[in-house]
Amino acid sequence: MYRCAIYDEPLLNELECCIPQEKKKPVAELPTTLQRTTPLHIPNLEEIQVVRHFLRLSQMNYGIDTGMYPLGSCTMKYNPKICEDISRWESFAAVHPNQDESTVQGSLQIMYELEQMLCEITGMNTFTLQPAAGAQGEFTGLLLTRAYHHFNGQNHRTDVILPDTAHGTNPASATMAGYTVTEIPSTQEGTVDLSVLEKTLSEKTACFMLTNPNTLGIFESDICEIQKLVHNAGSLLYYDGANMNAIMGKARPGDMGFDIVHINLHKTFSTPHGGGGPGAGPVGVTKKLERFLPVPRVIHSKNNYALDYNYMDSIGKIKGFYGNFSVLLKAYIYILMMGQDGLTEASEIAVLNANYMKKKLVDSKKYDLPYKEHRTHEFVLSCERLHQEKGIRALDVAKRLLDYGLHPPTIYFPMIVKEALMIEPTESESKTSLDNYIDALLKIADEDVQTVLNAPTNTKVRRLDEALAVKNPTFTWKMKQNTFTTEEKQTCCESAGRHH
Ligand SMILES: Cc1ncc(COP(=O)(O)O)c(C=O)c1O
Repeated sequence: MYRCAIYDEPLLNELECCIPQEKKKPVAELPTTLQRTTPLHIPNLEEIQVVRHFLRLSQMNYGIDTGMYPLGSCTMKYNPKICEDISRWESFAAVHPNQDESTVQGSLQIMYELEQMLCEITGMNTFTLQPAAGAQGEFTGLLLTRAYHHFNGQNHRTDVILPDTAHGTNPASATMAGYTVTEIPSTQEGTVDLSVLEKTLSEKTACFMLTNPNTLGIFESDICEIQKLVHNAGSLLYYDGANMNAIMGKARPGDMGFDIVHINLHKTFSTPHGGGGPGAGPVGVTKKLERFLPVPRVIHSKNNYALDYNYMDSIGKIKGFYGNFSVLLKAYIYILMMGQDGLTEASEIAVLNANYMKKKLVDSKKYDLPYKEHRTHEFVLSCERLHQEKGIRALDVAKRLLDYGLHPPTIYFPMIVKEALMIEPTESESKTSLDNYIDALLKIADEDVQTVLNAPTNTKVRRLDEALAVKNPTFTWKMKQNTFTTEEKQTCCESAGRHH
């Protein structure tokens, strides 16, 4: 029962009597060993105080529902609420992973059909839905690579090659899978250098990992040449599909000659993500790699869906149970709602939005575009000139954007661009919000240096020591019960925010 100042004790008791008996009963008795022996120390607050506290906290948060979120390489697109609503239906959310297959035919059907849809979108033969993130998809793909070479008696293939534009998870996943990583420099245009690739490929190469379009937002148009070189060396070609939002309905990695593909469902196919989750990184393969896919696999025969563990050459299980089902479900709904034309249009608008912003910002001559190639769904500007002339770095621009109520883009990635601002507006944004963001960036470039260096000034917390916050996080804080003044509570909440 919540406390409310206007009711007296007898009235509260009377109200308590109105609660039906069955509602008062605990659902199940806890064993005494698990029951509390001391009272719970929680602040004694009125409901309205609690509501205001949590509402205020929710307003301190920033998400795609709050405003534009052009975090390059992250595809922070709008996530339709219907996907969230359906994923919360009891018929999905209350399913237990150990339930008998006969009682979860609908969920298995969704997984089966999602695999088919991803095959069609990417041009691959078969998918596993198990990996729970892009990085875990990469790791799975590299274990598949190893299983494939082992099966073919090629255990001497111990090296993975990747370009210097690769996302950091690529070398990390390859290293975790036990490979030696070689990074090759890109051309001046920001694409794979064919002659360097050719020289680096050897009988030791297990796989070449490539993101296309790459993290500069440039489509690797030499992909046919690249796949020939890689396959002629006996190596596999791996596709990091995190940038799939640029090419849906336009080009398919399967048709480009990739052998293994991972897709970030939580980027391209709608799921709010961030802070490490939730996600799904399904992996698709060509026929020659199918036998190594993780188990179980969802199979379909005569109106019946089942989980099949019977694959002798499988790399085994990658994730508990069958993957991150609610993310798979949201992607399934999103793809059904969008349809083929809708997905193609999403990519077209994502590319249009990025190129509109790029042109306006580059034409302003306040920011530079080091790699001049035509851009797809994202582009990378450099603040190096601002840095040299005024001492303003990419980090300062990002912090100042917060004062304009905008989420900054990705900064300092890819590492081959000095003082990088990596902007990916996605298809979700209107021209008005793109213009608003462009205006803010242009104003910042002309602002008084100290204003930019001191930013942010109108956020709940000022500039953090981010390295310290990561190395020394404070996850909990304690309130003295009932003895705080309003000022003390305020300070306490703000410092909690600061540490998080
Ligand atoms: C190009 C690229 N590859 C891989 C990943 C890794 O995906 P995840 O964050 O889901 O592990 C990302 C994530 O930002 C990415 O941008």
